[in-house]
Amino acid sequence: MDHTSSLLPGPSVTLRGAVEMPRFGFGTYKVEPGVTERVVSEALEVGYRLIDTATMYGNEAEVGRALASSGLPREEVFVTTKLNNPDVEPQQVRDAFARSLDSLGLEQVDLYLIHWPMANTTDYVSRWRTVCEFLHDGRARAIGVSNFQPQHLRAIIDATTEVPAVNQVEVTPYLTQDEVRQVDAELGVVTQAWSPLARGTVLDDFVVGQVAERLDCTPAQAVLAWHLARGESLVVKSSSRERMVENAGALAVVDRMDDEAMEALTGLNRDERSGSGPDDVEFGGR
Ligand SMILES: NC(=O)c1ccc[n+]([C@@H]2O[C@H](COP(=O)([O-])OP(=O)(O)OC[C@H]3O[C@@H](n4cnc5c(N)ncnc54)[C@H](OP(=O)(O)O)[C@@H]3O)[C@@H](O)[C@H]2O)c1
Repeated sequence: MDHTSSLLPGPSVTLRGAVEMPRFGFGTYKVEPGVTERVVSEALEVGYRLIDTATMYGNEAEVGRALASSGLPREEVFVTTKLNNPDVEPQQVRDAFARSLDSLGLEQVDLYLIHWPMANTTDYVSRWRTVCEFLHDGRARAIGVSNFQPQHLRAIIDATTEVPAVNQVEVTPYLTQDEVRQVDAELGVVTQAWSPLARGTVLDDFVVGQVAERLDCTPAQAVLAWHLARGESLVVKSSSRERMVENAGALAVVDRMDDEAMEALTGLNRDERSGSGPDDVEFGGR
């Protein structure tokens, strides 16, 4: 088996501010710090050019080491990290961002996201206002949010006129997120799917298996191609180099996603989350 993918980095999308972001990214949630440098190095070798981390994941420094040892020019890798939930006051937000840059060993991130809105317990508009500073001082090429609902998006835009470049939310065949995707599109926000494989749970679905067999691909490739064919960007995680390559194979399946395949996978929607929802994560909670 070839351990690199000629299909990567794949297509990109232009974010606000003319920033190009690969649509097929690599996630690092639950990648333990002890293995992160190896896993991210392999992802870069395989050809992934978007690495998604977060302060919450506890692996920014190890991601930074993998970036440094890759020898890749800085501008060839798109790096996303996220503001952690305990950092809410303006100075805490500024300090948290500075720590993230320091841990990553970078002077600038490509995308900085507010990880969770925590809308019932924090002033997320104030957090957004502070995050806007990092766009204006050039230390973030783009800024965005994660797990924001339409009312949260509208509130931050109304207050600051700054439209987030990205809204990273869970999207899977079991959670198609039609309303969030539609409002994102109306507002000019790029939807980026997290847990695009529903953390692997969707791969055993009978219908997914049927679609994959008919398209002559693996279940993971069918699901990832479904995301891309819907126009989404995504970040997918695997600790296995073989599965990193397998997942990238979805880029060759997109053109085979006919109406029958799209309708079969979209028809699996049952508004079921594989991770936390926006109201599950509040300040001081887990
Ligand atoms: N913003 C947020 O709140 C938020 C929340 C969750 C996740 N995220 C981001 O989204 C990324 C992706 O989400 P995720 O890691 O939760 O879930 P995911 O990418 O949907 O699925 C990852 C799981 O699927 C397995 N897997 C991957 N490829 C496979 C394949 N081809 N065949 C079989 N199993 C496969 C992985 O196992 P192996 O590693 O063993 O291959 C892992 O257990 C995260 O890493 C993170 O960067 C963001």
